[in-house]
Amino acid sequence: MYRIAVVPGDGTGPEVIAEGLKVLKAVAQKKNIKYETKMYDFGGARYLKTGQILSDADVAELRTCNAIYLGAVGHPDVPPGILEKGLLLKLRFDLDQYINLRPVSLYPGVDCPLKNKGPEDIDFVVVRENTEDLYVGVGGIMHKGTPDEVAVQESINTRKGVERCLRYAFDLTRKRNKKKKLTLSAKTNVLTYAHDLWWRAFNEVGTEYADVTRDYAHVDATCMWMVKNPEFFDVIVTTNMFGDIITDLGAMIQGGMGIAAGGNINPEGVSMFEPIGGSAPKYTGQGVINPLAAICAASMLLENLGEHEAAAAVEQAVKYVTANKVKSLSAGKMGYSTSQVGDLVVEALK
Ligand code: IPM
Ligand code: MN
Repeated sequence: MYRIAVVPGDGTGPEVIAEGLKVLKAVAQKKNIKYETKMYDFGGARYLKTGQILSDADVAELRTCNAIYLGAVGHPDVPPGILEKGLLLKLRFDLDQYINLRPVSLYPGVDCPLKNKGPEDIDFVVVRENTEDLYVGVGGIMHKGTPDEVAVQESINTRKGVERCLRYAFDLTRKRNKKKKLTLSAKTNVLTYAHDLWWRAFNEVGTEYADVTRDYAHVDATCMWMVKNPEFFDVIVTTNMFGDIITDLGAMIQGGMGIAAGGNINPEGVSMFEPIGGSAPKYTGQGVINPLAAICAASMLLENLGEHEAAAAVEQAVKYVTANKVKSLSAGKMGYSTSQVGDLVVEALK
């Protein structure tokens, strides 16, 4: 019996999570998977009402579940940084979800903005380090608001943190068993301290994976290749900040935020799965948002629980829907409502 914590969150989060849960229920029935869900109302609305975001007691409770299913974080009436730091990043850090796994796959029937590229060309995974770098919040401001103002924000890179991320990426490249190529995306020519550590660790750890080809691209060149020759990539491993940026580009070449899912993974602990797009306030409550990213996140959640068949069945069903049903992946242009798309995926499971 799995215990899944569900955090629908803000904006369109609840709408897309409802469809993900619908699909989860259907596939669980089919594959005889037993689970229970517990809903949590963390997010902007609750913060505005109570001033609370996420307490240590909340985190302690979440630590006891098998997985977390998250909708979206971000509320138009809450200043930037508060919910991001207090909820999303707090969960990633406190639960030590040190991998942010973001597959970039173009599904059949999906409109790709790249000319002459199809599903066979766009099929790679980004392994983004998820607990260090510029995200740790080390730094400060001096003489704020004066002409002498100084702002410092430090990139923290620990040998342990870098190495565990690299090992995960090497293992994944081996397990995927495709091109068996792992590309480190960094900026060794400028970040000569931080990325020297990454480069040395990459090559040292890499000697233990003789079957995996080591490849390197500066992050700017990575963006160029993602557009020009995405078929070069198999697995990309990168830092937290660079990974944040290149996976939005990745989402666009796989058909947009409507389909892009990710996992915040602690291989030894509790992991959290989410559509990587935001709360999309302007579409909230209209039933036009695309739930496929949230449904793909549910598939990743199942995979993480070890329910490989169920995960694959959901992914297949999503592919059927992109190939044969939805007109577009964009909000309001799918040819169906949010809940109808959920129904189509359930239908395709049968
Ligand atoms: C993401 C988001 C977050 C990040 C924000 C909301 C803090 O952009 O999951 O990619 O920067 O990691
Ligand atoms: Mn991002």
